[in-house]
Amino acid sequence: MEMITSALKSQFIKIVVILACTFLVIPAADAVDALKTCACLLKECRFELAKCIANPSCAANVACLQTCNNRPDETECQIKCGDLFENSVVDEFNECAVSRKKCVPQKSDVGDFPVPDPTLIVRNFSIKDFSGKWFITSGLNPTFDTFDCQLHEFHTESNKLVGNISWRIGTPDGGFITRSTVQRFVQDPNHPGILYNHDNEYLHYQDDWYILSSKIENKPDDYIFVYYRGRNDAWDGYGGAVVYTRSAVLPLSIVPELEKAAQSVGRNFNEFIRTNNTCGPEPPLVERLEKTVEEGEKTIIREVEEIEEGELRRDEEYFLKELSKEEMDLLSELKMEANEVEKLFGRALPLRKLR
Ligand SMILES: *[C@@H]1O[C@H](CO)[C@@H](O)[C@H](O)[C@H]1NC(C)=O
Ligand SMILES: *[C@@H]1O[C@H](CO)[C@@H](O)[C@H](O)[C@H]1NC(C)=O
Ligand SMILES: *[C@@H]1O[C@H](CO)[C@@H](O)[C@H](O)[C@H]1NC(C)=O
Repeated sequence: MEMITSALKSQFIKIVVILACTFLVIPAADAVDALKTCACLLKECRFELAKCIANPSCAANVACLQTCNNRPDETECQIKCGDLFENSVVDEFNECAVSRKKCVPQKSDVGDFPVPDPTLIVRNFSIKDFSGKWFITSGLNPTFDTFDCQLHEFHTESNKLVGNISWRIGTPDGGFITRSTVQRFVQDPNHPGILYNHDNEYLHYQDDWYILSSKIENKPDDYIFVYYRGRNDAWDGYGGAVVYTRSAVLPLSIVPELEKAAQSVGRNFNEFIRTNNTCGPEPPLVERLEKTVEEGEKTIIREVEEIEEGELRRDEEYFLKELSKEEMDLLSELKMEANEVEKLFGRALPLRKLR
């Protein structure tokens, strides 16, 4: 019994690896990079990949990542997938693929979030003033800053600021998943308005917070305006900005100060997005199913349009020229096996169109 199960499982794993790599390889414009990543994963992270594919959430993450290929918002899309399908197996896979074996090249800093000039940062700040509950009521970067129900609770521990950070990830069916994590910050000894969250194991991420403006007078319109930038093994130079307030809704009285602070770092506060901290219950299942059907229809329409526009073509000659012998072998193996898989599913699965 056990033998049969694991034999089936290993066959399943093989098929999914082939599917994953076929999706990665065939439609991508930068297919050379995709295949190099794929070859690296198969060679260096075989165990983590197998474990990932045997885990429903991690397999769903891989499938989700395929839908991001070639999109203008590719990185944001990949991050959304990670948000939806986060678990320890995904973490282990990323640790191997990104940090240990570097199968995925680091996205380099394009200067979207430069370090602000020290004169733009608040001169005095006591981390004790950050204690207690704060809502993020406004955020700049839709990828990181504008989730629903962002209630963060801070306290100090010796000389560190510790935040228990929670937020909601919207699911495609209109529901949500609540996430939380703990982050630790140390204050820059020379600039009290700079807080560092370094020494993190996961992807070696480092976030630097710059407090551009704040008002803490134990009043309902108290606020802390944080601009941040960060780096990890996958991406150098991501960033954003958030407004922390005691109130769940952004108080209008502070908007002029926020506009000024945003402008000082070359941002327009009008571009910031107000968040939803209603923190209500999940909609009933029936409504969520209706939403799922709607979304499914939209996806199909989009895919048909993409195919009609001939978006799936690529420069095959260039692609083949760039490959090493080892990668060519892998490719032909994958193509062969992909054909087998297609036959197996009686072409019910249009491998090259399903994106
Ligand atoms: C900032 O802190 C310094 C030293 O602690 C103090 O002399 C100064 O008055 C403070 N400035 C403000 C605006 O609070
Ligand atoms: C963080 O906050 C969440 C929600 O408020 C809570 O469930 C969780 O136990 C807290 N975690 C820690 C480490 O305090
Ligand atoms: C805010 O979120 C709640 C659920 O927590 C939802 O019922 C409400 O429609 C949302 N409001 C807006 C403006 O999206």
